[in-house]
Amino acid sequence: MWHGRFSGKPDKLMQEFSESVSFDQRLWREDIAGSLAYAKELLRIKILTKKEFAEIENGFKQITAEIESGKFDWKVELEDVHMNIEARLTQIIGDAGKKLHTGRSRNDQVVTDLALWLYKRCVEIEAAARELGHTIADRAEELIDVIIPAYTHMQRAQPVRMSHQLAAYAGWMADDAGQLSFQRMFTLTDFPLGSGACTGNSFGVDMGELSDSLSQAADPRLRQRRSVNNSMRGVGDRDTAMDMLYVCAKMMTHLSRMSEDLILWSTAEFGFITLGDAVTTGSSIMPQKRNPDACELVRGKTARVVGHLMQLFMLLKALPMTYNRDLQEDKEAIFDATDQTLACLRVMKLVFSKESFRVNRKRIQAHLDSGAGYMEAMNVADWLVMRGVPFREGHDITGRLVKYCEDHNKRMMDLTAKDLAKVDKRHLKPALLKQLSLEALVERKNVHAGTAKKQVQARLKDLRRFLQG
Ligand code: ARG
Repeated sequence: MWHGRFSGKPDKLMQEFSESVSFDQRLWREDIAGSLAYAKELLRIKILTKKEFAEIENGFKQITAEIESGKFDWKVELEDVHMNIEARLTQIIGDAGKKLHTGRSRNDQVVTDLALWLYKRCVEIEAAARELGHTIADRAEELIDVIIPAYTHMQRAQPVRMSHQLAAYAGWMADDAGQLSFQRMFTLTDFPLGSGACTGNSFGVDMGELSDSLSQAADPRLRQRRSVNNSMRGVGDRDTAMDMLYVCAKMMTHLSRMSEDLILWSTAEFGFITLGDAVTTGSSIMPQKRNPDACELVRGKTARVVGHLMQLFMLLKALPMTYNRDLQEDKEAIFDATDQTLACLRVMKLVFSKESFRVNRKRIQAHLDSGAGYMEAMNVADWLVMRGVPFREGHDITGRLVKYCEDHNKRMMDLTAKDLAKVDKRHLKPALLKQLSLEALVERKNVHAGTAKKQVQARLKDLRRFLQG
């Protein structure tokens, strides 16, 4: 392609070192779509004749068929997807193929391809996030009466509906999906085709037109127009990809936290849930084992995706304007981060399916009945406040009552009027004993975002609406 000014060929080692076709060939569809849009502009400005344009169209049809049927011969010597496709086009149609690259550079071509590709990915990931959110919300609705401890510092804090915690997870998905729906729009306005190598087009290619036609083709509902308006930024930054990977990294962090909770919940120590056969594995040595591998892998892959985001930051942070070959290193990060995120969303949907996510109500009840963690204490402090005791004083009295239980090896629910009187005769009246249930404590948070049944149910309804998008 550029051999005019060269007398030798690149070393074989250099060829293998610098090729990207082995991984960027997955952009072939977008590469052809971008080239067709560009050819249309070349036709408009009369660089191409109608006949030549028709030849290009037909050439691309043939190439599409060849790639789809696996017959296309990808060549490492041609470096990347762009040169492979262009070379084949010229081979098939001759001179018209040689005109296609007029005023265009692989620098604007690759960013355009990536934007088209990322748009489709964005749509897929957003849909998967919404689906996962709905599946989690299904479980939350079914389990509305299950009460579990909520933890701070990994110590039992206060009782909560399991649904409330599940709704927190589903809420993450709703917000992440919402963010992706914005991201999708930004991606669709990032077509720098016409920027050329970095300074724009000498032949009158209308970048705004091109950007419009590409975005309309990707999403006919799109009204907003905001084309790239600086050719140097157009080829020299990767902002859309960085934004996309940020959303992926954030989503993965959410999935990873859910995974961590489920891993803990499925231990013998917690025993809140048993994960089903579809998402667990056994051990090659210990016949009794059931390991939560799906969740562990999601947690592990989070490191990988966050790493890819960091890779993009490092790639860009000291890069002189404009395009530098370093930027070729963006692709594997982008592909893998989005592949992994999509896969994890789908696996987590399986984890939260009715068959896989099995709740051990008896075991949870046994935990609550053990009285461990003294979660009833908040009832006492609240009760005192309602009787006019300043909260700080109530906190102290309750603290002494908990200490009494600890010293006498008693659960709070076993306390008698005599015990209360021993700790604080003036404030701790026998009427308090009827207030100690955990259920009552859960129901007392009868405010927006609180744990009372009717509140959790109302928020779940809102959530379904957000998840619809
Ligand atoms: N394969 C290259 C990449 O992904 C395409 C752009 C190459 N541009 C160039 N001037 N060598 O970045």
